[in-house]
Amino acid sequence: MRTLNSINQNVEDAYVKREALLKMPISVLPEQKLADQYVGYFERTGESKSLFEKAKRYFPDGIQHHNTYVSPYPIFIKGGCGSKVFDVEGNTYLDFTMGAGAQLFGYASEHYEQVWQTLATDRFSLFHHPEELELAEKVNAFMPLVESIKFFQSGTEAVKAAIRLARAYQKRDLVVKISGSYHGWMSPTIRDIRQPGVGDLYMSGVPKAEANLCLTVPANDLSALQKTIRKRSRKIAAVIVELPGPESGRIPIYPDFVHEIQRLCRKHKILFILDEVVTGFRLAKGGAQAVYDLQPDLTILGKVLGGGTSLSAVGGHRDFIQYFSRDVTQTVRGRAVFVGGTMAANRVSTMMGLATLQAIEENDPYNTLDQKAQKMVDRLNSLFDSAGFPFFAYHFGSIVQIELVAWPSKFSWSRIFDFQKRLSSVHQYQLFLQSQGILSLSGTRFFLSTAHTDEDLNHLINAYRKLLELIPTK
Ligand SMILES: Cc1ncc(COP(=O)(O)O)c(C=O)c1O
Repeated sequence: MRTLNSINQNVEDAYVKREALLKMPISVLPEQKLADQYVGYFERTGESKSLFEKAKRYFPDGIQHHNTYVSPYPIFIKGGCGSKVFDVEGNTYLDFTMGAGAQLFGYASEHYEQVWQTLATDRFSLFHHPEELELAEKVNAFMPLVESIKFFQSGTEAVKAAIRLARAYQKRDLVVKISGSYHGWMSPTIRDIRQPGVGDLYMSGVPKAEANLCLTVPANDLSALQKTIRKRSRKIAAVIVELPGPESGRIPIYPDFVHEIQRLCRKHKILFILDEVVTGFRLAKGGAQAVYDLQPDLTILGKVLGGGTSLSAVGGHRDFIQYFSRDVTQTVRGRAVFVGGTMAANRVSTMMGLATLQAIEENDPYNTLDQKAQKMVDRLNSLFDSAGFPFFAYHFGSIVQIELVAWPSKFSWSRIFDFQKRLSSVHQYQLFLQSQGILSLSGTRFFLSTAHTDEDLNHLINAYRKLLELIPTK
């Protein structure tokens, strides 16, 4: 996974296997057999069901988070420790959501003990504390291109700030992204999210004029990339990319493709933004940019940066980041972008971030995480092979993707029923796994932490073995 050749191979394999899986009819689990499996599960989780009924009165759809919701009701979680979480009735789940990727060391890690002790005695202040500076120094030591940094609270907010900066710096308005990629929910990059080709489906509330400022290019389509950039180069402020591909690599991109993006950006003086909200400090100490040998102009961080609390950042060369200046003269010249945030660089989050980066420095967890992920993928793939299913798993560092339902490379309204069938199958699988005490993100994405053990892996494999036994072979 560490060399570009092996990443290329990984991406190639994923596409070959995806084609094979696409040819297979979608496997629907028989309802009656499932009903038998679920008896105990629904009995054990009755309190979550009652809480969900109540939540529907207060929350849209009864939930606050989309990707962890599993129909018919979500499990209400009370706490967590290591690789496990506990629901309100004390049931234990093996968790692969890891706070949507934010937890690198598992829950309630001992690495944060000192933070809680300090906060218990110190209480905390909000502004101008030494930890924000220490965190900036540490990030810079890990990611040398992040010379200067501005903290925010969520990945979404940091992406929005980076795009505003790029537009102000370049005096250009257009932004290019890869189809299907999610860079937070704000415009303009909310265009064409989740499934390449959905276009403006998720853009209600965004004025057309703003929506049209986002151009999309299909993953790995060199000629579309070249055409888009050449045609509008003088109007494009930035290209934003997530490695290892949209949706944390569910739509994997080849390293050569990203290198070509970087080359074209340099050639046409377009800013190259790497969205490392998921990958920063998860794939490597230096982020995905170190693994892929890329030199972005701007780097966006989040998730692991705050150790499971709300912290994000935009970093890069001082010449860029100084655009976040409060200097009125610069503002008047159009050389400053006003941003702020009551909770930006709040002390709790920066202390958690600092403790995270210190733990990374002391433990260098990446080889072990890679090995765990490789073992998980190997065991799953041999299980799928021996059961005769074209399902497959692959990984980028500690991000594991498991595909039991492949998605066509482009969404189209004429195939909407096929899409719905695929989606409901994924939900069926996700609910089955949850009934076996396993939580994942969207039923396909599994984040590993240093806390996951061989025993956890055995649990996962057993759950998949049971799942395969339920799938009709004809
Ligand atoms: C690549 C990427 N960028 C940005 C975001 C938005 O981050 P947040 O949820 O913190 O707003 C996400 C969220 O999952 C993400 O995966």
